[in-house]
Amino acid sequence: MNVLVTGAFGNGGQAVSRALLQAGHNVRMADVVRTGTMEFGDAEFVRCDTRTASDVRHAVHGMDGVIHLAAWHCAHQPPVSDDTIFAVNVDGTFNVLEACRQEGIRSIVYASSMAYGWGSVYGVSKVIGEDLCRAYHEMTGASIAMLRYHEFIPRPYLEFGARLLRNGVDRRDIASATVKALTAANKKAFKLFGTIVHTDHGMPEQVVVDFARLGPEWCERQVPGAMALLEKYEISLPNEVEQHDLSEAKNVIGWQPKVGFVDFLRNLKKER
Ligand SMILES: NC(=O)c1ccc[n+]([C@@H]2O[C@H](COP(=O)([O-])OP(=O)(O)OC[C@H]3O[C@@H](n4cnc5c(N)ncnc54)[C@H](O)[C@@H]3O)[C@@H](O)[C@H]2O)c1
Repeated sequence: MNVLVTGAFGNGGQAVSRALLQAGHNVRMADVVRTGTMEFGDAEFVRCDTRTASDVRHAVHGMDGVIHLAAWHCAHQPPVSDDTIFAVNVDGTFNVLEACRQEGIRSIVYASSMAYGWGSVYGVSKVIGEDLCRAYHEMTGASIAMLRYHEFIPRPYLEFGARLLRNGVDRRDIASATVKALTAANKKAFKLFGTIVHTDHGMPEQVVVDFARLGPEWCERQVPGAMALLEKYEISLPNEVEQHDLSEAKNVIGWQPKVGFVDFLRNLKKER
């Protein structure tokens, strides 16, 4: 497919673009800035501010599918103003969906968030974004996937591991879910589809709900030496692991996460 990725030089956008290129798609990377050019040699770059309708129309032209990631979120330092968050996340999303309507795009993936909600301008920008997706699906019949990503902000490795047990997900899983969703949209596997994108550690339910007590021994059975690693690196363990039912994503778009806490432990054991 010819695929446009907006926000393509961001953390998620680079991972998604790389996964699309590896899967053999033609990738057009759209962003306000271009960074890290070498590894995306086969991709086309278009400068596009999603707040500007003509930029977006130009970027969408000639594509078969669109992955809309461009947004500001609350983790940027120094912070981005709520005004800018609203303009980019809401007006930008409207411009992308409107350009898709004008250009006849039938396969769209929208980056939503677990921050979806009414507690912040960022959260409500994702509520409006999903509503816009619903509206454009109703108006055009396009297949649209709305993916509520968990957190994949880059962190020091030990912190990343501890987060996997909570609200963290590896960005390779973000990328694979996004590419699977686009491919399924192209096959008309759904009309309007929403799912959470999170990790799965393959733990029995009793370990999930009583991790502080049962988790370390379960980890030791998966990765010999794990208990010593947890102690040595003082990895903070939650009482209960955050785990969602991801079976709909498996059934509808054929996606399952691959990177869990056991992979983190195996890597830690190998590297340290
Ligand atoms: N990072 C997370 O933990 C997380 C969690 C849930 C959802 N999300 C969502 O995933 C998507 C990608 O997040 P990320 O962490 O890769 O973000 P990021 O900040 O790393 O990248 C965002 C990219 O968007 C670009 N951008 C900003 N304004 C733009 C504009 N007006 N026009 C075009 N491009 C613009 C930026 O230059 C940047 O390259 C976003 O929609 C975000 O809300 C992220």
